Amino acid sequence: MADLIQRTAELLVNARQVVALTGAGISVESGIPPFRGKGGLWEKFDPMEVAHIDAFLNDPETVWNLLIKDMKTVLDTARPNAGHIGLVDLERLGVLQTVITQNVDGLHQLAGSSDVIEFHGNFAWLRCLDCSQRIKSTEVDLTRIPPHCQCGGIFRPDCVFFGEMIPHEALVRSQQLSAACDVMLVIGTSATVQPAASMPLIAKDNGADIIEINPEPTPLTARISDLPLMSAAARLMPRLVAAVRQRLPAG
Ligand code: APR
Repeated sequence: MADLIQRTAELLVNARQVVALTGAGISVESGIPPFRGKGGLWEKFDPMEVAHIDAFLNDPETVWNLLIKDMKTVLDTARPNAGHIGLVDLERLGVLQTVITQNVDGLHQLAGSSDVIEFHGNFAWLRCLDCSQRIKSTEVDLTRIPPHCQCGGIFRPDCVFFGEMIPHEALVRSQQLSAACDVMLVIGTSATVQPAASMPLIAKDNGADIIEINPEPTPLTARISDLPLMSAAARLMPRLVAAVRQRLPAG
């Protein structure tokens, strides 16, 4: 692993433009369960029954009670971990430019990342189905489920359900940055959900080196990963940042 970390650091300090794509795995050490794999949310719930827009529109009360209330409790108290902080360090060292995240937990911004593309939206906000008014989820009264807007409409989390489009600006900017970067860090994603999972392929097709940080192999590992760092993000990132720092001129 030490050799892989040194080779990754060498690539990062010599890179022209570095982008990170992150998934649920980077937030596991913040106490937020992943979606897939052991202990994943989709082991407990069928995503088509609780995370598809049709399911929400058909029965918002059940989706609120089954999924949203639980997620809200976990997300309201979660804090960034060494994985998120490592990306902030790389940004402050001038090595990393942008984070494209599939996560709706807002932990990259809380850690201090300044350019974060929220590919699947953000759970910290709710939006009214009728008047589209947006409010902070910490301000909603949950004594009545589903919570209602003053206009009488039902509030939904301002994140992307299955069956919905990715916000246009987030999609276009992510595709452009993936095509332009020369190194992509792919951290904590199973790389199985489109269109996010195609960003590393776009990067690779445009000549970028793909660095994967994940304790488990993914469909990318054997196919396009140049440096698969099979480790948990919070354990790996501080070591990677230290190796990068060593290579940069002091001061
Ligand atoms: N550090 C790094 N990676 C980890 C860690 C960790 N500590 N723990 C688990 N992982 C890896 C797992 O091995 C797995 O490959 O993180 C990945 C999590 O995969 P998923 O749960 O599928 O999460 P993600 O890829 O973000 O899911 C994509 O699917 O359900 C939808 O909208 C949801 O954004 C989500 C999308």
